[in-house]
Amino acid sequence: MRILSGIQPSGALHLGNYFGMMRPAIELQEQGEAFYFIANYHSMTSLYDAAERRKNTLDVALDFLACGLDPQKSVFWRQSDVPEVTELAWMLSTLTPMGLLERCHSYKDKVAKGISPNHGLFAYPVLMAADILIFDSNVVPVGRDQKQHVEVTRDIAIKFNEQYGPTFVVPEPRIRDDVAAVPGIDGQKMSKSYGNTIEIFGEEKATRKRIMGIVMDSRTPQEPKPDADKNLAIQLLKVIRPALGAEYEEKLRAGGLGYGDLKKKLFETYWEYFAPARARRAELAANLDHVHGVLRAGAARARELATTVLQRAKLASGLE
Ligand code: ADP
Ligand code: TRP
Repeated sequence: MRILSGIQPSGALHLGNYFGMMRPAIELQEQGEAFYFIANYHSMTSLYDAAERRKNTLDVALDFLACGLDPQKSVFWRQSDVPEVTELAWMLSTLTPMGLLERCHSYKDKVAKGISPNHGLFAYPVLMAADILIFDSNVVPVGRDQKQHVEVTRDIAIKFNEQYGPTFVVPEPRIRDDVAAVPGIDGQKMSKSYGNTIEIFGEEKATRKRIMGIVMDSRTPQEPKPDADKNLAIQLLKVIRPALGAEYEEKLRAGGLGYGDLKKKLFETYWEYFAPARARRAELAANLDHVHGVLRAGAARARELATTVLQRAKLASGLE
């Protein structure tokens, strides 16, 4: 089984990225051949600062490795080091109906937010399909917001196979229900673009302040809270430590637990959960040659496979 996923270097990674995508991806490296990459081409649709892209790319590499991506088990590279994906993206785009892309929520949401759409943003799912199909991927671990993009990939693969004969593996999304949509500190989906994140490797003081600043209602600590499951701090605590979260949910429901104490518990739990990864990240940051070496070796392996599959698609479609 080949597992593949990507993450954009468009900002600091957060708990939604970690629990929705990175941790499931890291767990899956035990179950098959894992291929993970930093989607820097994709980040060009929303980030226009070169220095920032370069910095974010290194940060994503450090974050992912610190969190447990093991280069002995997984292939890990930077998307643009395998430029064959852009060639395949062109081929796929000729079989992608406009309507399929026009229906994509993520595109529509961005336009609704006032981003003036460019062709890259519109064609984003086609490049994503190329990322997935060029590695014969079977399983794609992602958060719920990316499900539709994997479905578009399936549609494109099926269409190509019908048109030119069996060429691509049709992949499946893998979405962990319990963490499919981690809420941000304002209650919306946690997302870099909503400014509501808790960063995985946030600075201690600033993160404590963010968590303590989560807005709650004005009920007294003594009051029982029958809606304890709707409480944001409880929801986040359950994402990080499910058993502890359930215990605190009961305490909150029964009455007697103040919101300040609850948020303090959330901060401490978060801080302690990522302590080992924080230490690993500091070691990696002091050894950047190693990190660059991992990405280079990953790119070489990924490129070898991508070249083979691209050749298959070229033969099938009469380019060769
Ligand atoms: P963002 O919305 O912060 O820009 P990305 O779109 O870069 O995040 O997502 C990277 C990966 O993390 C994707 O697989 C996505 O589904 C997952 N992810 C992002 N936010 C969340 C969230 N709040 N809950 C669960 N998964 C998420
Ligand atoms: N679109 C994904 C996101 O924003 C990133 C991505 C690019 C991806 N190519 C991919 C994810 C291929 C899975 C497979 O999260």
